[in-house]
Amino acid sequence: THQWRGIIEEYRDRLPVTDTTPVVTLREGGTPLVPAQVLSERTGCEVHLKVEGANPTGSFKDRGMTMAISKAKEEGAKAVICASTGNTSASAAAYAVRAGMVSAVLVPQGKIALGKMGQALVHGAKILQVDGNFDDCLTLARALSENYPVALVNSVNPVRIEGQKTAAFEIVDMLGDAPDIHVLPVGNAGNITAYWKGYREYATDGLATHRPRMWGFQASGSAPLVRGEVVKDPSTIATAIRIGNPASWDYAIAARDESGGFIDEVTDREILRAYRLLAAQEGVFVEPASAASVAGLLKAAEQGKVDPGQRIVCTVTGNGLKDPDWAVAGAPQPVTVPVDAATAAERLGLA
Ligand code: F0G
Repeated sequence: THQWRGIIEEYRDRLPVTDTTPVVTLREGGTPLVPAQVLSERTGCEVHLKVEGANPTGSFKDRGMTMAISKAKEEGAKAVICASTGNTSASAAAYAVRAGMVSAVLVPQGKIALGKMGQALVHGAKILQVDGNFDDCLTLARALSENYPVALVNSVNPVRIEGQKTAAFEIVDMLGDAPDIHVLPVGNAGNITAYWKGYREYATDGLATHRPRMWGFQASGSAPLVRGEVVKDPSTIATAIRIGNPASWDYAIAARDESGGFIDEVTDREILRAYRLLAAQEGVFVEPASAASVAGLLKAAEQGKVDPGQRIVCTVTGNGLKDPDWAVAGAPQPVTVPVDAATAAERLGLA
């Protein structure tokens, strides 16, 4: 009879809701904080993974979406819209169903993972594939929300950030204090903004003794915050973070500078190496974009930037099942055997 109630009920006093806000929830949040044994050994630190792929639609977006859809419903919206590299659209589509609303999603044509497209479809979203990248989709979504009766639920909507900051609360509640370092993949930069807000609030209210340094990692082909300029034609295999002009640019820079952290880039090769390490050595299957945080931590450790003995949390943002192509690609095909124990044993190397 005691299950996690979702982030609005669990953190109601820290969120902009009232008794009359209709709570639209799939019981998001309350995700596992998993000690990472191999990463801890490699870095000489105490590394934990915040496994956001365990959310109801398989990514951290659900934390923001329960807030965005609840507030949209409170304000009487009948339809919501978002631009997305896939996860936001999957989440918006699911929460819109719960709220009895119509959802419209704009995705970059040919550049979203199949699992995410499947989610938007099965939840009944109206999907448009835009002949452009995510940044173009966001421009279009903003224009539509300004001129038509449809509420924007991207992270430029501040209640999305409010919902997503609860992940930082959960981490401090579990560890008893803030970590020394928090590591995140960065795309549109809403999540690093949200975590930093959460950590700041808890420290201000005396629920943590300090705030972590925020380390963000972008994919090399989509690293505007590292370059210091908009990337016109972003590229990376980590389609979730294929973004050239992050909406929360200034907030991400503020999180970096106020926390004494940094934002760096990781190559697709480094992302895929971390992706395989997480699955094969930690037992945690994430989507490629999520592995950017871990790739970044390993890169920083190799560069001697990680002092041993620190407590580090890496957020892994989305579930590996959303984009399984990378798990299958390059892996040996399983062999086929007859229904025969001796043959099976021999093929498995047991005999
Ligand atoms: N990881 C995953 C799995 C994501 O889906 C995203 C963003 C990020 C990291 C980066 O987070 O944008 O807050 O810096 N996905 C958005 C979407 C853009 O449309 O689903 P961010």
